[in-house]
Amino acid sequence: MTLPIAFAHISRPHLLSLLRVAPKAELHIHIEGSLEPELIFELAARNGVKLPYADVEALRRAYAFTNLQSFLDVYYAGASVLITEADFDAMAWAYFQRAARDNVVHCEIFFDPQTHTARGIAMGVVIRGLDAAARRAEAELGLSVRLILCFLRHLDEDDALATLEAALPWRDKFVGVGLDSSEMGHPPEKFTRVFARARELGLRLVAHAGEEGPPAYIRSALDLLRVERVDHGVRCLEDPELVARLARERVPLTVCPLSNVKLCVFDDLGHHNIPALLAAGLCVTINSDDPAYFGGYVNDNFVQLFESLPSLTARDAYAMLRNSFEGSFVEDEDKGLWIEELDTVFAAIEP
Ligand code: ADE
Ligand code: ZN
Repeated sequence: MTLPIAFAHISRPHLLSLLRVAPKAELHIHIEGSLEPELIFELAARNGVKLPYADVEALRRAYAFTNLQSFLDVYYAGASVLITEADFDAMAWAYFQRAARDNVVHCEIFFDPQTHTARGIAMGVVIRGLDAAARRAEAELGLSVRLILCFLRHLDEDDALATLEAALPWRDKFVGVGLDSSEMGHPPEKFTRVFARARELGLRLVAHAGEEGPPAYIRSALDLLRVERVDHGVRCLEDPELVARLARERVPLTVCPLSNVKLCVFDDLGHHNIPALLAAGLCVTINSDDPAYFGGYVNDNFVQLFESLPSLTARDAYAMLRNSFEGSFVEDEDKGLWIEELDTVFAAIEP
């Protein structure tokens, strides 16, 4: 910490406004999960795609999820409207503009190529569209963007290996690989070879683990896939030895509070285990996951969490914002500059 911060003098209302204005990084956002219903219907009309929902309202009514799979079924239906490079560009550009309003200065966005290539969309269409929006966001919004290619874990490892090879002509456009989709019954060890190959290629490694799946999945993501961050990871608390290890190794957890409530991982935000994760010394970050489906972008996640959990302090807020930079895949110099900006915002509070 470069500047003294008077945490004790930050009032609750002030803290909520600090959360909104503070610079932050978002490390867990599925770009297909940022497709708002209005854009889904606009793209469906443009591309002549028939949706199993009559209109925007009917689609929104389907956003009553009971678990991860019930969400994924709707999410894949929504993604079916993406056909051209311009569609991927429009989707990502809408997210970047929205994220910039939340003072996101750096984001690492997940994309699911298999969702598109399985429908006959070329890999280059997906990556070029996303990359065009990312370059524009960097130029026009001053937003730093990295892409992370995710494998769908309900498919087999050969499909993931073929997907990675198919993406290699655009190797310079993505920094890492991840693992998402249906967790239960699809443990990380299913993907050991493709993660080893990604590692050989110099890619950074992350995986969803411990969202619905058991702590053993977090362990195998660390030991067999050798991931550097765990997406969600909230079920780690069931395994004290694992918690001690995550704390000791400072493995970032990209936690998504509104997602966890929408997918029934926790009953409500007031029962989220973030206070316990922080008390255990874990490197927790706050993220939106699939903001168009879960009722909020990153600032909504921060503000609603702090409104629901009075035990969370200004020090916790600062720690999670700082963790977002420390856990990101950028040069140390950039991390340092953003942390200085964060410190300046927090230090501006007069004792
Ligand atoms: N794909 C999009 N959102 C996801 C989530 N929360 N968990 C697993 N896969 C996903
Ligand atoms: Zn996710």
